[in-house]
Amino acid sequence: MPAFTATAPGKIILFGEHAVVYGQPAIAVPVHEVQARAVVRAQIHGERGEIAISAPGIDLEAKCSDLNPDHPLKVAISGVLSELDISGTPACSIRLTSTIPIASGLGSSAAVSTAVIRALAGFLGHPLSLERVSALVYEVEKIHHGTPSGIDNTVVTTNQPVYFEKDQPIQTIPIGKPFALVIGDTGVPTSTADTVEAVRQAYQENQGQVQRLFESIGQCATQAHTAIKNGNVSQLGPLMDRNQAVLADLGVSSPELDRLVESARQASALGAKLSGGGRGGNMIALVKDEKAAIVSEALEAAGATRTIITKVGTQQIPR
Ligand code: PMV
Repeated sequence: MPAFTATAPGKIILFGEHAVVYGQPAIAVPVHEVQARAVVRAQIHGERGEIAISAPGIDLEAKCSDLNPDHPLKVAISGVLSELDISGTPACSIRLTSTIPIASGLGSSAAVSTAVIRALAGFLGHPLSLERVSALVYEVEKIHHGTPSGIDNTVVTTNQPVYFEKDQPIQTIPIGKPFALVIGDTGVPTSTADTVEAVRQAYQENQGQVQRLFESIGQCATQAHTAIKNGNVSQLGPLMDRNQAVLADLGVSSPELDRLVESARQASALGAKLSGGGRGGNMIALVKDEKAAIVSEALEAAGATRTIITKVGTQQIPR
C-alpha cells in the first residue's frame, strides 16, 4: 500500500469569536504559512490492526491501542474506522508534524485532526468528503472544549475563508480584494475551554447585557462579510476595532493582548483585535501590504513572541 500524506492549514477568526457559540455569525480564514502534516505508511513487520503513532512535536511515540479512549488522536482514528466501517487496518504508522503553535487560537487541534483523518482515510483507499471530515474533526474538538461552535473544523477542512453560522451549511466567502494581516502571538498559552466557560458564566449572570454584546459582535461579522465580498477593505479596520472593544467588555482580552493591539494601531494598522478564545494567544492586525513589516516589527518590540504575515484571498482553493 502506498504512503499517504495530508496537510491542513492553521486558521484565525477574523470576526465573531465567542458570540458564534451563541448563534451569531463569525468569519474565519485559513493561515497557510503554518500547517499540520500527517503521513501514513504501511508497516511491513507490524501486526494487523496495529497503528504506531509518532508525533515528535508533542513527544508522543505510542501505539494507538495504548492511548486513552478520549485521547484526541485516538478519537480521530476511531472516527475514521467507524465511518468506513473497518474493524482493523493493515499494520501502519502515522507520523504527525505541525508548525502551528499549540493553544494560541491558530487552530492547531483542528488542523492536526484534519490531517490525520484525511491521511488515514486516503491510505485506506476511501477518501472522505469535506463534510464528513469536518464532522469527524468536530467530534475531536468536543474533547478540547465541550461546546465548540464548529467554526474551527469548518474553516480548516474547507481551507477557504468562511462565513460561519452554527448548524448552517458551509458558506465560503469570495474575496473581493485580497488583504494583508499580521498575526502577533502574546506568548501566553490560552485555554479555549476556560474562556468559553468564563463567557458562559457572564451570560448566565447577566443575560440581557451579554446578549447585547453578542449581537453587537454579530453585526460586526455581518458588515464585515459584505465588505470582504465587495472588496471594501477600508471598512474592515474600524469593524475589527469595534469587535475588539466588545470582546474586552466581555472580559476575554488581557493586558498582553491590549498592548499588542495598541502597538499595531500606533504602527499604522488599519484595525486590530484578539483572535480566538482570548486572554492570551494571538491577535491580528489589518495592514496595508507595504506596512506589514513595520507592524510586525512593532508587535515584536511590544513583546510578541512570534509574528506571521498572511494575505487573505490569494490562495483560493476551489472546493
Ligand atoms: O481559540 P480558538 O481559536 O479555538 O477559537 C475559539 C473560538 C470561540 O468562539 C471562543 C469558541 C468556538 O467554539 O467558536
